[in-house]
Amino acid sequence: MASAVLKFSVVLLVIGVCVADVSHLYQNTPVTEVCLGCICQAVSGCKQGIQCDGDHCGLFHITWAYWADAGKPTINNQSPDAPDAYPNCTNDPRCAALAVQNYMKKFGQDCNNDGRVDCYDYMAIHKLGGYGCSGQLPFNYVNIFNQCVATFAGHQG
Ligand SMILES: *[C@@H]1O[C@H](CO)[C@@H](O)[C@H](O)[C@H]1NC(C)=O
Repeated sequence: MASAVLKFSVVLLVIGVCVADVSHLYQNTPVTEVCLGCICQAVSGCKQGIQCDGDHCGLFHITWAYWADAGKPTINNQSPDAPDAYPNCTNDPRCAALAVQNYMKKFGQDCNNDGRVDCYDYMAIHKLGGYGCSGQLPFNYVNIFNQCVATFAGHQG
């Protein structure tokens, strides 16, 4: 348990630093670092070395359609039309995190009707997409997400 939290913290730090890196380019990043980290944890375990598998790539399990909706961000100024632009971005933690931010800027909404748009909504949108985020979420996905958020809420006091 302790080592799982530690591993996650390392990845969170990497993503956090990277998000901070590009924040001057993207003024409003709706998703906080803890929220990004907990979505990552829920969707993939946020383990290093995760590559493309079936229809999704990287730590955030991003599909081609999701990446396209996020405005096709790329690494190293690669053309978004290059055949490997999608895997190259989504397998890169910083570019993948940027895709999540862009996606949420576009599709952010109050999925659970609690009167605000917050991390729970982003978690639902990440899994169900921008057009069906009030639907049923996999139990395990929500469970890991909730545990993660609770862990970090506790640490932040
Ligand atoms: C995209 O990924 C491939 C395979 O890892 C690599 O050879 C290539 O240099 C990458 N392209 C860019 C622009 O980073």
